[in-house]
Amino acid sequence: MKAPSGPGTSCRNCHGGDGEGAFGPGLAGRIDLTYERFRDYVRNPVGRMPAYVESELTDQEIADLVAYFSSLPPVVKPGAWRVELPKDAARGQQLAIAVIGCGQCHGATFETPRHGAAEVDGDFEWFKRMVYDHVAAQREQWKQLDPAITPTTPQPAGPPGRNRVRMGNYSPQRLPEPVLKEIWTWAMEDLGKLVPLTARLTAGQQGLNGATYNVQVANAGVKSKGLAAEEVTVEIELPENAKVVTATGTGYQGPHRNSEGKMVAAWRLPRLSATEQQMLTLTLAQPASALRGVVHWAKPAVKADGEVMFELVSGGRGGRGGA
Ligand code: HEC
Ligand code: HEC
Repeated sequence: MKAPSGPGTSCRNCHGGDGEGAFGPGLAGRIDLTYERFRDYVRNPVGRMPAYVESELTDQEIADLVAYFSSLPPVVKPGAWRVELPKDAARGQQLAIAVIGCGQCHGATFETPRHGAAEVDGDFEWFKRMVYDHVAAQREQWKQLDPAITPTTPQPAGPPGRNRVRMGNYSPQRLPEPVLKEIWTWAMEDLGKLVPLTARLTAGQQGLNGATYNVQVANAGVKSKGLAAEEVTVEIELPENAKVVTATGTGYQGPHRNSEGKMVAAWRLPRLSATEQQMLTLTLAQPASALRGVVHWAKPAVKADGEVMFELVSGGRGGRGGA
């Protein structure tokens, strides 16, 4: 039997890909878990699990999960946690990964919540709502990011994306506010809110004077709410013997060796505000078979994930081999 698709796929982060158990208990081959008991638990969990509501995970989808798990043999030994607790973890990180379990979905450095906070420069009140009233709060934020999204209830079945949310709602009784505050302080104050910068590299014109590549750098935050990134550096690593014919865009710095000794073409943008985009171009004498680069920024400073890597997207003209 094939594993069901849909929002229930994030159950695997805690219960294992085949219900073998990890941070959460094994669900495979459990004859005690009838559809009713299973559904009651998912809708009203009593432990550390968030609650999943019908609009995001339907009764039918729960029935499919139950059918799938009961088609599997019972587990002898649960699997490893998806995200292990790093050595010397700060207390907030311990709570997030090992006690509450947010980190089993969000990873050891909480990239998604930190991006979300920077998208609207959210404060602790914002965070609380995102956790305790996740479905409504997340839908509102998606709408702010993209007014074209019209949430309907119940949500259409289909792959998770911006039609349905995948995280459930937590209850303040089982996840008290002071505990959540410690997670907030670790993620948003110690590691820092993460400005949602994106970079896309595409091959453009191949002209008489060389092959041109475009880099579109953008701040995906919500207009006039999201955090700006300051002192943004965009670097493209130059292949050996590459010759730069010309380049355009704010703050172009010309080919030079960066602090790691790599030859790069670089741009320095003083500031990139929420929704702002910048188009940079680089023309090389010869087409490159592969190109990659990185964006970083000085402010607001972050302690993890402060680099956005990008590379030539496949199917672009100008690149040899097309990959
Ligand atoms: C953050 C980790 C996490 C996620 C995500 C998660 N669970 Fe759980 N689940 C647990 C834990 C831990 C338990 C054990 C009791 C508790 O602490 O809630 C549990 C218990 C259960 C139980 C009761 C099992 C028993 O032994 O009685 C069911 C059923 C269940 N989960 C189903 C699901 C389904 C379905 C999903 C996805 C829609 C899901 N869980 C997502 C952590 C998680
Ligand atoms: C089942 C996996 C899962 C668990 C467990 C989980 N999250 Fe999430 N969380 C997500 C996903 C996926 C999103 C993106 C929106 C969505 O699909 O729900 C998200 C979104 C968020 C956001 C909003 C980000 C944005 O884009 O605005 C915050 C804040 C957040 N989570 C915090 C937490 C905290 C704190 C915990 C633990 C108390 C937690 N999450 C537990 C999966 C999870």
